[in-house]
Amino acid sequence: MLEIQNLSKIYGEGENQVKALDNATFSLEKGEIVLIVGSSGSGKSTLLNMIGLLDRPTNGKVFIDGTDTTKLDDGKISSFRNKKLGFIFQFSNLLSDLTVLENVLLPRQIAGTNGSAEKDARELLISVGLEDQMNKRANKISGGQAQRAAIARGLINNPSIVLADEPTGNLDSVTSEKIVQLMKSMAKKFNHTFIIVTHDRQHFGEVDKVITIKDGRAFEGNLPPEMEVLT
Ligand SMILES: Nc1ncnc2c1ncn2[C@@H]1O[C@H](COP(=O)(O)OP(=O)(O)OP(=O)(O)O)[C@@H](O)[C@H]1O
Ligand SMILES: [Mg+2]
Repeated sequence: MLEIQNLSKIYGEGENQVKALDNATFSLEKGEIVLIVGSSGSGKSTLLNMIGLLDRPTNGKVFIDGTDTTKLDDGKISSFRNKKLGFIFQFSNLLSDLTVLENVLLPRQIAGTNGSAEKDARELLISVGLEDQMNKRANKISGGQAQRAAIARGLINNPSIVLADEPTGNLDSVTSEKIVQLMKSMAKKFNHTFIIVTHDRQHFGEVDKVITIKDGRAFEGNLPPEMEVLT
């Protein structure tokens, strides 16, 4: 359902060139929970941004549910992104003037499919444990609650893939643990593929796959021993 082929991203020109992603190739199945780990500056966010269609690769291909996304023009890319992908960031990025419920509804309104929107949003908010926070303004809830709301918002369009860049990076360890367990249970419940960038490998316990990035190169599982020496 996600296939990455020879994906590379070069930032800058001439002497300032940075090869942020170097010929990554892998594929993921539906419902898998996948961690992306690696040191700061190794290329984790770059990879996530390519999969999230937030930026275009210099080379290579990203197939999502069989669609070659590198062939989509800018207009098609944004509707494809809205339909197929959900995003959770380090900071919840909720709009503070809106209620929690309204924040969760936003991506659905943008997608323009409003049939059962409010019912779906309420159900999602219940499953992330925010049944009694829905009508509060988003700036009146805690960091952990905001991240739960962000998870509900990321799932409202029933995406194929949910992308999370350091979703627990801004939380204390007890709250992180709860958010990690919540993401794992939501992935299983809805059979979404979750791709999660984290510095916090231990918190996640058992996952389906770990991709380690080192100097822009992606390795499935842990680093091969000859690369480990260089860390
Ligand atoms: N927009 C950009 N323009 C130029 N260089 C960039 C840009 N974004 C990232 N880079 C460079 O690409 C490399 C990979 O960056 P990236 O943000 O993917 O790292 P990361 O693994 O997410 O790091 P961190 O753990 O600190 O978030 C780094 O050398 C970075 O400086
Ligand atoms: Mg990053």
